[in-house]
Amino acid sequence: MQLTKVIGHRGAAMLAPENTLASIKAAAEAGAKWVEIDVSLIADGGLIIFHDETLDRCTTGSGKLRLASPSLVASLDAGRWFSSEYEGEKVPTLVQALDYIQSLGLGLNLEIKHDADDVENIVPDVLEALKEHWQDNEKLIISSFNHAALALCYQMDSSRYLGQLYEDIPAEWQAQLAAIEAYSLHCDYERLTQAQATAIKQAGYKLLCYTVNEAQLVESHWRWGMDAVITDDPNLFVHLEK
Ligand code: G3P
Ligand code: MG
Repeated sequence: MQLTKVIGHRGAAMLAPENTLASIKAAAEAGAKWVEIDVSLIADGGLIIFHDETLDRCTTGSGKLRLASPSLVASLDAGRWFSSEYEGEKVPTLVQALDYIQSLGLGLNLEIKHDADDVENIVPDVLEALKEHWQDNEKLIISSFNHAALALCYQMDSSRYLGQLYEDIPAEWQAQLAAIEAYSLHCDYERLTQAQATAIKQAGYKLLCYTVNEAQLVESHWRWGMDAVITDDPNLFVHLEK
């Protein structure tokens, strides 16, 4: 695995409209070697890069994302809300994003978003897209807050590096990570305690923290053994890669 210390969140969400190709490019230009993006399911089985459950905040459209057709999503502007400089930016499909990220030589943390009952609709198609369109398994972590989604990933392809996402780390974290032979645990830096960090590292897992937008907020976390930050502004941390 070629994990680095700095992962751009939704590309580089502070520098360009999140989860767009422009945002991925901004992360690379800032010096990040990895990006995190969110993959979501829309109507007709389409897979796109998008965070929210509705189109409203980040596009010129509105309404529930899950009900939007690929042609509707393709017609939307996903940059204008951020600034006029990005007018015309599109919502990428998963395949477009995979191709672009690899063309820039970046690693990828792909976060699977889902409706509660959509795990079996999204996971097989994500794995198939990765099989067809992602070359280097050593530069890919699949993560999700949904343990069932990761369990299905593990069942279908145990060679993938899996990252369990948590807001609050539950008491049963170690059993959950063991059940999917997880590579990493990804958590909210604000809720992580030193005791949890120590236990996670002692158990042999990589520890990634989101979403860190001020360097001094995680000075102690590095000492606790944190391996990487997921940040909206990679500029804050890229000196650590040197
Ligand atoms: O993967 C880390 C982070 O992206 C998880 O939260 O809501 O920003 O997707 P969210
Ligand atoms: Mg995410």
